[in-house]
Parts: sequence; structure tokens; C-alpha cells
Amino acid sequence: MADKIRVLIVDDHDRVRGGLVTALRRADPLEVVGATGCADEALQWLHERSPDVILLEVKRVGGALPCPAQALVHQIMPCGALAGCGACAVETRLGWKLACNDGPVFDLIDLLPKG
Ligand code: FES
Repeated sequence: MADKIRVLIVDDHDRVRGGLVTALRRADPLEVVGATGCADEALQWLHERSPDVILLEVKRVGGALPCPAQALVHQIMPCGALAGCGACAVETRLGWKLACNDGPVFDLIDLLPKG
């Protein structure tokens, strides 16, 4: 059996967090190692539970990042990722990008507001 991909979910919306936990627990080979809406708890679990992947609500991250990170952006893709409709556009520090063409994985720092 292949190793599990350990996932930590960080989102302050209870319903979103609960929905992700439910969905990901059915998705083999993923293993949810934690789900929290608290940044301090997330940082503690990052060290204690060593997740392979962190699903993080980017808008809630403030200040400096503790380490380089990337984020998987989930967007609707009505044109089937043909880069023709623009519905999957994501605002980044480098301008608007298409999740279907330029992502869906972006450097997290590029997704944070300047400031
Ligand atoms: S899904 Fe249509 S442009 Fe990306």
C-alpha cells in the first residue's frame, strides 16, 4: 500500500473546514492530520504532525510566512481549462493569472496582498 499524503486544513469557516474534512477522508491516499481555524494551532500542528500538504485559506494569512510555501487554488473552470473564458482568474502580486493555465499551484507569497 502506498504511503498516505498527510493533509492539514486551515480555514476559519467551520462549514468549509468540515466539508473539506468529509471530502478528503473519502479520498485515498489522503489522510487529514488536522483541521483548524486558528493560525497558532496550525503552526503548532505544522511542527507536530508534519503534513505533506496544507490547504490554507490565503486571505486569512497575515504577516510574514514562516517558510516558503505554495498554494493550490481551486477555481471553477467552465471552459475546461482551455484558457478561453477567464473565469478561473486569480489576482496575484504579478497581475491576474489563470488558474487553469498559470497554476493551479502558485507561490503563496504571490497570492498575498502587498503590504
Ligand atoms: S477555465 Fe476558462 S480560462 Fe481557465
